[in-house]
Amino acid sequence: MKVLVIGSGGREHAICASFRKSEKITGLYCADGNAGIAEIAECVPIKPDNIAELAKFAEENSIDLTFVGGETPLALGIVDEFEKRGLKIVGVSGQAARLEASKSFAKDFMVRHFIPTAHYKTAESPSEAIEILESGEFGDAENPVVVKADGLAAGKGVVVAQNRREAVAAINELKNLVGETAAGKIVLEECLFGKEVSLLLFADGKNFALMPPTRDHKRIGEGDTGANTGGMGTITDSAILGAKETAKVVEEIIVPTLEGAEKDGFPIRGILFLGLMMTKTGAKLIEYNVRFGDPETQAILIRLKTDLIDICEAIISGSLENTKIEWREGSSACVVLASKGYPQKAQTGDVISGLSEAEKLEGIEIFHAGTSRGENGEIVTSGGRVLGVSATAGNLQEALNKAYQAVEKISWNGMQYRRDIGK
Ligand code: AMP
Ligand code: GLY
Repeated sequence: MKVLVIGSGGREHAICASFRKSEKITGLYCADGNAGIAEIAECVPIKPDNIAELAKFAEENSIDLTFVGGETPLALGIVDEFEKRGLKIVGVSGQAARLEASKSFAKDFMVRHFIPTAHYKTAESPSEAIEILESGEFGDAENPVVVKADGLAAGKGVVVAQNRREAVAAINELKNLVGETAAGKIVLEECLFGKEVSLLLFADGKNFALMPPTRDHKRIGEGDTGANTGGMGTITDSAILGAKETAKVVEEIIVPTLEGAEKDGFPIRGILFLGLMMTKTGAKLIEYNVRFGDPETQAILIRLKTDLIDICEAIISGSLENTKIEWREGSSACVVLASKGYPQKAQTGDVISGLSEAEKLEGIEIFHAGTSRGENGEIVTSGGRVLGVSATAGNLQEALNKAYQAVEKISWNGMQYRRDIGK
């Protein structure tokens, strides 16, 4: 089978690595890839948002299956276009992608289908948002409140404001931060407290299969301090979400979501990612993503034992119910290594050393994000998040120990990472 993966980050490297393990693979392509992906797949120089060119490539190269990594092509309707041309593709439709691409659409959907979430209000302009705050709907001036740009903002569209003054500043700043389009509407939200869990699932429109529960580490600094990032590390471990809690999330959030989406005319066929907050009064849904997480995927897929191609075919044919999906027992961890200056302004072009030594360690897989080849063929940094060092083991502590042992072998000028992932 010839498979095309769309995207160029650590997530897509992990997805490619999973496909590479399949005996059914006869060709693996990635648009547009990175230096690590180039070791296991043929990189194709087409950007993920160039849907017409991607479809043409798939047709001309007889691609049997396309897998979409990120949200942008999904929101642009890549799945609808491929399906129209009779091309097999895994990912949600443009209609379903609105669950991620518009926060107000997602919140209205949650309320319509009685899914537990934070109280919210959508404003059409910054002045309306400020009026809502001043009306006291989100408590007094000292109350925390969350300010969100409605549209896709690559993780930059959310500010957890500690009080009304910070919220007003965030509202006024939002357009500069994420652009006019994404900040066209503003969602104000009650601030929730608790531990966050990322729960991902495969869905075929009706049936679903859960992946191991995951925890991301979003802040740049140890002890969850400093600026928000795309994610500095992840773990998977059964203790993140116990069996009882999982059953409740299935009943109160997952089933109503899948049934609601089907009823509303956009069945969810692909990957669904729930951002959950475990509050004192139960799990509440913060957000939907309609794709794999980055770096959640780098910790999840190294535990997958079932052939990813079989899962993809079950998603497309609606037969997930009859597909047994097996995971390696135990836990996993992924530690992200980032460039100097990330997340503000990442320094690039630094030569990375120690990669092959680290890769030799047992139970380790290294996923590239911002890497490229330098003039002499050496691997150099080319982005903010550069590598994800992933490990699996019988328990979380062992997985973390292994990952950090591998991290110690790798270095470049200004490399930064958190030493407290999973602590
Ligand atoms: P999102 O892009 O919606 O995932 O938001 C990014 C991050 O902001 C989340 O992972 C949470 O840490 C935080 N966040 C979003 N909404 C809320 C909320 N209602 N209460 C508290 N924290 C939130
Ligand atoms: N790691 C969070 C995300 O992929 O959205």
